[in-house]
Order: sequence, then C-alpha cells, then structure tokens
Amino acid sequence: MWKYIKKYKLLFFISLLALLLVDFSQLLIPRIIGQIYDTLGEEGSFRFFLISGLKIAGLGLSVFAFRFFWRIFLIRMSRKVERDIRENLFYRLLTFSQHFFGKWNTGDLMARAINDINHIQRMFSFGIVSIFDAVVMGLMTLGFMLSYDVKFTLIAVSPLSLLSFIVLYFEKRIHRLSLLVQNRFSRLSTFVQEDFSGNFVLKSLNREEEEKNRFASVSLDYLDKNVRLGRIQALLHASITFIIAISNVLVIYVGGKNVINGITSKGDLIAFLSYLNMMVWPMIAIGFAINIHQRGRASLERVEELTGYQPVITDPPNPFLPEKKPETLSVEVRNLTFSFGEGAPILENVSLSIAPGETVGLIGRIGSGKSTLVKLLARLLKTGDDTIFFNGVDINRYKLNDLRALISYVPQEPFLFSTTIRENVAYYDTSLDDEAVMEALRKADLSGTIEEMPAGLDTSLGERGVNLSGGQKQRMTIARAILKDAPFFIFDDSFSSIDTDTEERILTSLAPLFENKSVLIIAHRISTLRYADRIVVLDEGRIVEEGTHQELLEARGAYYDIFNRQKLEEKLGRE
Ligand SMILES: Nc1ncnc2c1ncn2[C@@H]1O[C@H](COP(=O)(O)OP(=O)(O)OP(=O)(O)O)[C@@H](O)[C@H]1O
Ligand SMILES: [Mg+2]
Repeated sequence: MWKYIKKYKLLFFISLLALLLVDFSQLLIPRIIGQIYDTLGEEGSFRFFLISGLKIAGLGLSVFAFRFFWRIFLIRMSRKVERDIRENLFYRLLTFSQHFFGKWNTGDLMARAINDINHIQRMFSFGIVSIFDAVVMGLMTLGFMLSYDVKFTLIAVSPLSLLSFIVLYFEKRIHRLSLLVQNRFSRLSTFVQEDFSGNFVLKSLNREEEEKNRFASVSLDYLDKNVRLGRIQALLHASITFIIAISNVLVIYVGGKNVINGITSKGDLIAFLSYLNMMVWPMIAIGFAINIHQRGRASLERVEELTGYQPVITDPPNPFLPEKKPETLSVEVRNLTFSFGEGAPILENVSLSIAPGETVGLIGRIGSGKSTLVKLLARLLKTGDDTIFFNGVDINRYKLNDLRALISYVPQEPFLFSTTIRENVAYYDTSLDDEAVMEALRKADLSGTIEEMPAGLDTSLGERGVNLSGGQKQRMTIARAILKDAPFFIFDDSFSSIDTDTEERILTSLAPLFENKSVLIIAHRISTLRYADRIVVLDEGRIVEEGTHQELLEARGAYYDIFNRQKLEEKLGRE
C-alpha cells in the first residue's frame, strides 16, 4: 500500500493532520456539554452558557473546515493513486503480446481495469479514513474517558475486547468473498462483451433465448455472491452495534449507581455517555475498514496479477542500433522451426529469403502456418535466436520499435478503430495531410468510395468498421500499410474479399511503390500471385515447392494441382 502512497506523502500527511484536528475538535464538545449540565440552575450561569455556546460553535466551525480539507486532500490523493495504478496497468498491457491476450478475455481485463480499480480507489480514500478514524478517534475518546475515571472506563470498554475476535473472524471471509464477487463480475463482463461483439452470430443462429438463460444464470451467480458478501457485512455491523449496546448498558448501570451514591456528578455521567457514543463511529469505522480493505486488497491482487506478468517479447539488453533507418531490407529465414508451447511444430525447417525489390508469393492450405510465419517475422510471436535476419542481423537483436518500423504489415483480419477514416488510415502518423491519405486510399482503390461518402475522410467508422463491407475493410487496412511505407511489405491474405479486377488495379498501382521494397504476399488464389517474382508453397509447415509461376506449373506438383483446381472452379462458376 505504502508504495502507492509514497509519491503523495505531503497530500497524505496534510489530510491526516486535518482529520486529526476534526477528531480532536469533536471530542472537546462533550466535555463542554457536561460542564453546562453541571452549572444548570446556578447563579450567573447564563454568561457561562453563552461562552460555552460560542466555544461549541467555534469547534463546529473547525470541524467543518478541517473535514473539508481532509476530504479534498485525501480524495485527491486516492484519485491520483487510482490514476497511477490504471495507467500502470494500461502501459503494462501494451507491452504484452499474443501470448498474453490469447489467454485473457477482454471482458475480464475490462472488469479489472474499471471495477477493481474503483475498489482500490475506495480503499485509498475511505479505507484509510476509516482505519485512521477508528484508531485515532477510538484512542482519543478512550483518553478522554480515562481522564474522567479509570475504573469506570475499563468497565465500559470491556465488551470491546470481543472486537478482536470479530475482526479475525470476518476479515478472511470478506476477503475471500470479495475475490469471488470480483471474479463473477469479470465473468459477467466477458459474457456481455462477447455476446455484443458476436451479436450477428447470435441472431443468425436464433440463440437469443439460450443466451438469455445463460446470462440469467451468470447474473444469478453474481447476485448470489454479492448477497453472501452482503450477509457477512450485515453480520459484522450488527455484531459491532451489539457490543456498543452492551457497553451502554454497563455504563448506565454502574454510572447510575455512582451518581446515586454521589461518587460521580450527573454532568460527568452525561459526558461519559456522549463519549461512549462517540466510540460508536470508530467501531463502525472498523467494520467499514475491514470491508473496504478486504475488497480493495482483493482487487489489488487481481490487478497485480496482470501487472506482475512478464512480457514475453521485449527489447534485447544490448540492442543493435542501425545508424539510420534502412531504406531497403533483405529478409532471411533460416531453418525456422516453431511450435506453440509444447505442441507439435507448426513450422518445420523453413528457409526463405526476400531481397529488396523482390515480391515473394506464399500459398498453402488452410492452417499450413502462413500467418504464423509472418507473425514471427514481425516478432508478434517469439522466435529462437539465429532464425530470422533483417539485413543480416538477427531480428531478436533489434529494438521492437526499430524492427516494426521496418514492416508494413496487413494482418489477415482487418482491424479498424471506431474513429474517422482519416485517423484509421493515418494511424501510423496522424500528422499526415489529407492529400497523402487520399493518395494511399487511391492506391488501395478506395478513393472513389470515400468521395461518395457524405463526410468523406471524416466519416466515422463503427466499432471494428461495422459500417464497411469486408472488401472495403481490407482495402482500408491496405491503405494504412501503404501510408506507413516501410521497406518490407507483408500482405496476409489481404485480397481474399476483393474481386480479381480490383485486386489487379491495386497491385498495378502499387508496382512503382514496390520497386525497391521486399514484399511478401500470402494468398489462396493463384491470381493474386501472378505479380510475384517467386512463389513458395507451404504444406503442413514445410516448404514443399519454390519457383516462378511458370516453373511451378512445369514441375506439375502441389502448385500445379492448386492451379488446375482453381481453373476448374472458375470454369464451373462461369457456367
Ligand atoms: N495461438 C495459437 N496457439 C496454438 N495454435 C495456434 C495458434 N495460432 C495458430 N495455431 C495453429 O497453427 C496452425 C497454423 O495456423 P496459421 O494461422 O499460421 O495458418 P494459416 O496458414 O495462416 O491458415 P489460413 O490460410 O487459414 O490463414 C493451425 O493449425 C492453428 O491451429
Ligand atoms: Mg492465416
């Protein structure tokens, strides 16, 4: 906890000081009331009342002022801590790769980033106040009581010793239940997130009723855990109130007897009772504190579970620093074998090179490892050393930013942000002017479509570009890659939703740009590969053939089979 507060020491101590002054001012009031009570009916007491009244008003004013101060300072501090933890979480998540995001659900991450961090914020504001108040108010009240009568005080507070048992009993249970509640909230959040982003699937398969039922059961589970937590919290508060009631009974009984026997004055008994009731708040504060702290700590554990992860793909300790950004790139893959975790190899002994100015086509069956290969090239997946080289240097030796600056990568699944077309296309460099953006869109054969849109480049895209067609989305991401204009271009099946005529226009318009670039085009259609200088055929993670279109046809192997099949399909399609 302290490690988060350390940065805001000053705010923290000022607010605690203000809190101390509030508590102290409050504690002086019963003493004055007791004195008023004892002077009731005496001569000249009016003047005394007036002065006492003014004193109480003054104390009230100081309670008002200092309470205002501790609140603004402590809440400011807790909001800053909240921001630090949230930013730290976000920055940390940014360093993670597929290894991490493949395991965690978006809904769960969102729940931790929002809901858990709210609990943490409460722990740092009201959690701290309740502990501080419980301790300070409790001890000060005790001090004031002791100054009246030691024996009497000991009798009055003896039931409070039960409190330690109560704290021990409730603390662990609340912690465990809080973890469960937060965990169920994550589940709920994941469910909602998936059902809404997959709402097309849901509707087309008529799954509404089933999803309603499934949601009801997840939601009921969340309710159930919350009710259990609520029950234990209620029990905690009730027990504390009960202890205070016992104390009150003791004080009234023993104190009443003392007053009758003339040992204690009536005013002292009144003051004593006021003090005892001032203990009510610190005691309840202990209840709050247990509750808020256990929830906050449970949430902190959940957040630290994420921030404690070590990113798998990181900058090397002694990176290779190119003198200036290379204009061209020669790519070399040497005997690359790769598998996910302990699984069977997805790529086996793959060797491939692409020289500047060369376009290599990669074709292969579904699941043959094409996307895996390009993710390795972009270091989105982790490779062993000495397997992939850019300009003769192992890619693991580059800083990640330097490495990725070398690649214009169009992923297989086009991803668009819910912002304008301009910002989506110029995502790499938002300072680019409209002309450059339009030029890239023109090369991707999309300028006509954009011009027809009422808001042009300012047209807002829905989440993931829902208001675009599949082919438009693909072309949008192609335009994004063109605008980045790196020495190495990778197209992962980026023309699959684009008809052959459009594809031809795009590739022709890119020819001048590709003059000194290394280009890797992955495709399922032979037609996409006709511009490739060389074609590589991948099958079950192995390169089975390599050569120009003509050479491969003459070899009459796997490529030739694909070619014939596609020709046949085309012919059947036309008939
Ligand atoms: N994150 C992952 N964890 C485990 N296995 C994976 C993962 N991603 C892909 N695979 C497996 O790796 C194999 C190759 O997948 P890859 O995406 O590279 O195929 P592909 O050639 O791009 O296929 P497609 O033509 O359908 O795009 C598949 O069998 C797939 O199940
Ligand atoms: Mg793929």
